[in-house]
Amino acid sequence: MGGLITRIVADGAEAAALLRAGALVAFGTETVYGLGADATNDAAVAGIFAAKGRPHFNPLICHYPDEAAAWGDVVPNDAARSLAARFWPGPLTMVLPRRADSRVALLASAGLDSLAVRVPVGVGGLLRAVGRPVAAPSANRSGHISPTRAEDVIAELDGRIAAVWDTGPCAVGVESTVVDLCGPVPTLLRPGGVTRDALEAVLGPLAEPGTAIRAPGMLASHYAPDAPLRLNVTIPRADEAVLAFGPTAGQFQLSASGDLTEAAANLFTGLRVLDALVRAGGWSGIAAMPIPESGLGVAINDRLRRAAAPRGS
Ligand code: TXA
Ligand code: MG
Repeated sequence: MGGLITRIVADGAEAAALLRAGALVAFGTETVYGLGADATNDAAVAGIFAAKGRPHFNPLICHYPDEAAAWGDVVPNDAARSLAARFWPGPLTMVLPRRADSRVALLASAGLDSLAVRVPVGVGGLLRAVGRPVAAPSANRSGHISPTRAEDVIAELDGRIAAVWDTGPCAVGVESTVVDLCGPVPTLLRPGGVTRDALEAVLGPLAEPGTAIRAPGMLASHYAPDAPLRLNVTIPRADEAVLAFGPTAGQFQLSASGDLTEAAANLFTGLRVLDALVRAGGWSGIAAMPIPESGLGVAINDRLRRAAAPRGS
């Protein structure tokens, strides 16, 4: 890999032209920066896996400008239509049966008979200009922290991708909620920007994923900083850099007022900043203060647990 000069482009038209030509282009969605490629171009999709060092069994989400475009590649059911009406554009990904005539590269869905689709906020114009589904995982190297700023994408993928469209910091800060609608009962595969309560208000009770890992990307160790991370720390050691939440100060404050929306938006920047602090010397690791397990706190705690999990799992 490497050898490319990664450019920061200022406008969506240029990003769209590059994507149409088969190049890899990162762009900000409301959740995190995605590493986009024309999902119908086998070589471009293969390039995503190579640039990220992503295992080929881990399928990608396809992005669309609107609901009608998404239904071109999957078969929606009533639950999917209700969720689309309520949450799209927005931080919700639906896993649905892939249409037999879909032109999405088989590699994008890792050979599964399902496909993950999403209509994000803020990049509708780009997606419309591309005119094809855009496959986009988070724009980090596999296992690393998702980027929420253009500079984080450069830190992760400089020299491996053609361009980054700098769309500013991401508003939500954690990835989309992934819900599997292929079975009789909707199943929550990944907590994210749309809370479980909000989903259940539309769908009724959700099922828990079975023991088989249905979202193949949900490995125990993920979103991992280099530094060791301790969770639910109320009394940090003197040499720990503190990821603070609430009135007590720390080396990085997620939200002094204890606001979970603000904390989610700051989460991955906080992990990157503290990781850099530990790497610079003087600190033994990161200590994260407790975050309530409600609303967006569920997604925040999910990412923190994966960031703290033993590596290589
Ligand atoms: O917010 C987001 O979802 C961001 C932005 C860029 O859209 N994207 C993102 O993609 O987080 P990624 O690849 O980092 O995570 C996608 C997750 C993975 O856990 C993957 O295994 C799961 O969705 N997934 C994708 N296709 C699937 C499928 N057909 N069945 C089950 N899980 C699937
Ligand atoms: Mg990811």
